Amino acid sequence: MSVTVVIGSQWGDEGKAKIVDYIARDCSIVARFQGGANAGHTVVKDGKKYIFHLVPSGVLYPNKKVAIGNGVVLDPIALINEIAELEKMGLRVYDTLAISPNTHIIMPYHKLIDAGAERLKNDANKIGTTGRGIGPCYEDKVGRLGIRMADLLDADSLKEKLKYVLDQKNNTLEKLYGIPPLQLDSIIDDYIRAGEKLRRNVQDVSLLINTAIKNGELVLAEGAQGTMLDIDHGTYPFVTSSNASAGGACTGLGIGPGTITDVIGIVKVYTTRVGAGPFPTELFDTAGEQLRDAGNEFGATTGRPRRCGWFDAVVVRTAVRINGLTEMALTKIDVLDKMDEIKVCIGYTLHGERIDYIPSREADIQQLEPIYETHPGWKTDTSKIVHTKDLPKETRSYLDRLAELVDVKIGIVSVGPDRETTFYYAS
Ligand code: GDP
Ligand code: IMO
Ligand code: MG
Repeated sequence: MSVTVVIGSQWGDEGKAKIVDYIARDCSIVARFQGGANAGHTVVKDGKKYIFHLVPSGVLYPNKKVAIGNGVVLDPIALINEIAELEKMGLRVYDTLAISPNTHIIMPYHKLIDAGAERLKNDANKIGTTGRGIGPCYEDKVGRLGIRMADLLDADSLKEKLKYVLDQKNNTLEKLYGIPPLQLDSIIDDYIRAGEKLRRNVQDVSLLINTAIKNGELVLAEGAQGTMLDIDHGTYPFVTSSNASAGGACTGLGIGPGTITDVIGIVKVYTTRVGAGPFPTELFDTAGEQLRDAGNEFGATTGRPRRCGWFDAVVVRTAVRINGLTEMALTKIDVLDKMDEIKVCIGYTLHGERIDYIPSREADIQQLEPIYETHPGWKTDTSKIVHTKDLPKETRSYLDRLAELVDVKIGIVSVGPDRETTFYYAS
């Protein structure tokens, strides 16, 4: 029984793909279980940069299976374009990809509604979504109006379903958002063609994974986004529309909780967030700019500058609890190399009182005042280091303190974007 779940412990972009790529060496299947093309997952191998949105990050190994589970919302046109780009770079994606027939499909109206809904919101309410149609597609899934991968494989039934759904969607588009209605004939062919192109990749992913587990193989579940963007446990409503936390792996792949042996939380040694919503340790000064520059903190999907701030131990402690983390991987240590001093938020003050949790009320989260402790910078280039013993003592004491504050052990550490800049931490 051995599934390792990798999840983001903050607001996404923690470096999940880089760590997935590293751990995937030992696994036979790498599977995405939630989210969609809102994700931007970067792996740098032999100096070549790959950005994955829907294709699991394990695809860089030619002998692994990669899978898209039923919990993902899949834009088939975006997937086909992504695969075309990756195949141009020399990867064989069609040969290794399995797509669950139960995966919900992002349709053109989902993207239009995503954009329309954002437009109608005032500045205080805008989520700053990626515009990929994620929320509206999950709404249709729960509302039992969704089109699934299996539907794309049957042109007649797709036409019937789409006719029924499109009536309702056109109503919404026209009346609520003032957007011209979509014509069935102008969209259906693209989706039938996409279905044809992906037909041979459609496979029962739950069965595939459970058979692998029975055969003693190791499976890696690759999370997208992060715990603070989780629909249930994140900073609602400034979240994405899926369970980005470890629980999502069971429902999003069709595996039992007992199959999961390891839950690895990816943790950046500072914090970033892209899009709107509360961010207690956000920096608006030169330290924030320094983090953005040194960490190249620009969105891998939308190119938006990421908001940057100090490490927040309350956020990561919450992620340890929600996900039942068995260990954490600490990334982007090298980004702090030039800092004179580094701050860590160890708790908050709310209305004059000390608290150690994230409150549920949006208004309360907005008013949290972080309590900081200050660590000396190490002012040393760590980006070539591959052994714990070679890390400066200030770096080690910073990392050890983070582990102490969030009460989970450190597994992998990362000091650069490349596959080689990764090693196991010896505390
Ligand atoms: P993900 O969404 O969690 O997979 O992360 P992203 O790919 O969106 O963002 C992480 C960014 O940081 C990418 O550009 C990675 O190449 C880069 N990265 C990952 N780990 C490290 C690291 O340890 N140091 C540095 N400097 N960059 C890193
Ligand atoms: P990875 O997997 C960071 C954010 C958006 C927005 C909110 C909702 O690369 O870590 P959505 O389009 O999902 O409805 O947008 O969630 N968001 C991410 N932020 N990393 C991501 O993915 C994200 N995916 C969505 O910016 O604030
Ligand atoms: Mg990302």
